[in-house]
Amino acid sequence: DVEDRVNTLLGQMTLEEKIGQLNQPMIHGLPGLDLLRQGKAGSIINAFGALSGQGFDHLNSAEQCNALQRAALESRLGIPLLFGRDIIHGQRTVFPIPLAQAASFNPSLVEQINQIAAREASALGIRWTFAPMLDIARDARWGRIAEGYGEDPLLTSRMAAAAVRGFQGDDVSQPDRLVACAKHYVGYGAAEGGRDYEQAEISEPTLRDVYLPPFRAAVAAGVGTIMSAFLDLNGMPATANRRLLTDVLRNEWGFDGFVVSDWESVGELVQHGIAEDRAHAAALALRAGVDMDMVSGAYLETLAENVRCGRVTLAEIDEAVRRILRIKCRAGLFEHPLTDPERAIHDILTPKARELARQAARETMVLLKNERHLLPLRDFRRILVAGPFVHATGELFGTWTMDGRAEDAVPLDQAFQAIAPAGTDLWFAAAPDLALSRAHYADAVVLLVGEHPARSGENANVSDLGLPPGQLEWITAMAAIGKPVVLVVFAGRPLAITRAVAQAQAVIYAWHPGLEGAAALAEILFGLATPTGRLPVSMPRTTGQAPLYYAHKPSGRPLEADGPFRTRYVDIPTAPLFPFGYGLSYTSFSYSDLRLSSAHMRGTLEISALITNTGERTGSEVVQLYVRDLVGSLTRPVRELKDFQRITLQPGEARRVSFILREEDLAFTRADGSWGVEPGRFKVWIAPHAEAGLEGEFIL
Ligand code: IFM
Repeated sequence: DVEDRVNTLLGQMTLEEKIGQLNQPMIHGLPGLDLLRQGKAGSIINAFGALSGQGFDHLNSAEQCNALQRAALESRLGIPLLFGRDIIHGQRTVFPIPLAQAASFNPSLVEQINQIAAREASALGIRWTFAPMLDIARDARWGRIAEGYGEDPLLTSRMAAAAVRGFQGDDVSQPDRLVACAKHYVGYGAAEGGRDYEQAEISEPTLRDVYLPPFRAAVAAGVGTIMSAFLDLNGMPATANRRLLTDVLRNEWGFDGFVVSDWESVGELVQHGIAEDRAHAAALALRAGVDMDMVSGAYLETLAENVRCGRVTLAEIDEAVRRILRIKCRAGLFEHPLTDPERAIHDILTPKARELARQAARETMVLLKNERHLLPLRDFRRILVAGPFVHATGELFGTWTMDGRAEDAVPLDQAFQAIAPAGTDLWFAAAPDLALSRAHYADAVVLLVGEHPARSGENANVSDLGLPPGQLEWITAMAAIGKPVVLVVFAGRPLAITRAVAQAQAVIYAWHPGLEGAAALAEILFGLATPTGRLPVSMPRTTGQAPLYYAHKPSGRPLEADGPFRTRYVDIPTAPLFPFGYGLSYTSFSYSDLRLSSAHMRGTLEISALITNTGERTGSEVVQLYVRDLVGSLTRPVRELKDFQRITLQPGEARRVSFILREEDLAFTRADGSWGVEPGRFKVWIAPHAEAGLEGEFIL
């Protein structure tokens, strides 16, 4: 069995070989091969092109990984390598960015996406992905908000479990699965000022109630690995935080996989000013619970000496090696170290994968405004499609798509031509002058704006959440012509589009929708599909509202109270432009007849409401359950999402949607630091979004 095999290997390994397992280098050329033959790498990051030093070609990458693997197998004990790569929202088949995936409120979709991503990546020899990213992000200036599932711990936790299931399946030893890595542990999304790599101060209750739950959900789902974050959290860099990496993660939650550092973050403990030198940094990280050093090389260079001088014990080294070998065993690498190169021919970019990418893009776009049912576009003969994304291909992919290829995407203008109803005259104009002159002759305008993927993702932080320079002016000029304007926004974050929204008659928030994004958008615009996405983040009115999230604390002077001295801005309303959970459909839904199974919760409580499709089209609604704990030993958020269900109703159809709330769903970190519930009064809502709904009350 796994533990026996690991122990047998450990018994045979020299200290040097053990330290080799704790090291994750990038391998370049022949010196790299020597490193492998000497057993000095446990894993390789970004294996593609490693041998040739050239770009990635999927038809020979399995061969490349196999060549590297053979070198590792030639080492004295023949311990196989684990190839790791950032497969964040698909490998060659690029799916919508994770933030968009969250807008589906559909965990099963996220599972299917990652299953396909796993199949494609594993066909190339990759068996480990640095995903899912589970950082709660409440400040849209932070570029990496694109990579996670938004602001809410419950939604992120559900997506975390789904993503892990998608990558790893029931049996991660199957050759078409990837070991997942929940990252970045923890608090990374709270970086001060929205600047990547900055510090954060997060109180213990907030850490426990908001930032840790998604990681716990990933651990419960069996995630194989965790990545420590770059940031300095409350004065202790996450990569040296023994309390979080060992006491919480392993001792409290029972995680038995391995922890990898982020890129060079072991060495960076020196820059943080917590380690004197790289040897000290390596000792701090290892002793905190970081098992594998990504790229910094500090473990490889200094751990042997650290053991000799007693700064690190052999038992600590053994434990880290044990965890890494355990995951390699579970991944089936000892049985199947090599990848069948034939798989790349059959498993990549299949019609099924493309269809799922199309479905995902459809399910994730959010309709924010639709005055007088302008959408879907009907009866417009001449439609001008204008804006910087008119000919987009790879610009729709989003961040972290190293393996996506622009040529795999049908250019947006071609996708529109293929899907628009026969007889529609589509005119395309990417340049403002041309677009403005043509708009006079068009019956309606679709304006495609937003941010380029390079403006989102790691270290792509912005100080201004407005549209990129020039775009608002363009919208204003177009609106002045007086034709109906549909605004489509592509973005990796919730942008502050207040003035743009006011000037358009309809608005679709399309995120970075991936390979099939253009076709999915055309289907929505022309009514072949109905929008179903809901916001996984609150949309700000202005940059100054950041950080912005619905589950805030009540304040002693809440907005709703009388009198001038309330929590507010003097220049804008406090509320977001669009709240968390918000999204329209081409039909409408009514909520009525809230029922609670009892006025007192005893263990569980059933809460239900009647949802009716009051419009004329079939549509999907995301029915959301929120709770407020009215009095606590510590202040409690004004609302917290506790559950949600996506339902599809025919026109006129009504359905009772029912939720079972359990006592443990009401638990939180109490004033004495313990985790549990507190008896008292609770409000409950069944709602279409975080600022509406049918309200009830119960007592625990
Ligand atoms: O996985 C990433 C991480 O999210 C940011 N730094 C680099 C890692 C590996 O590419």
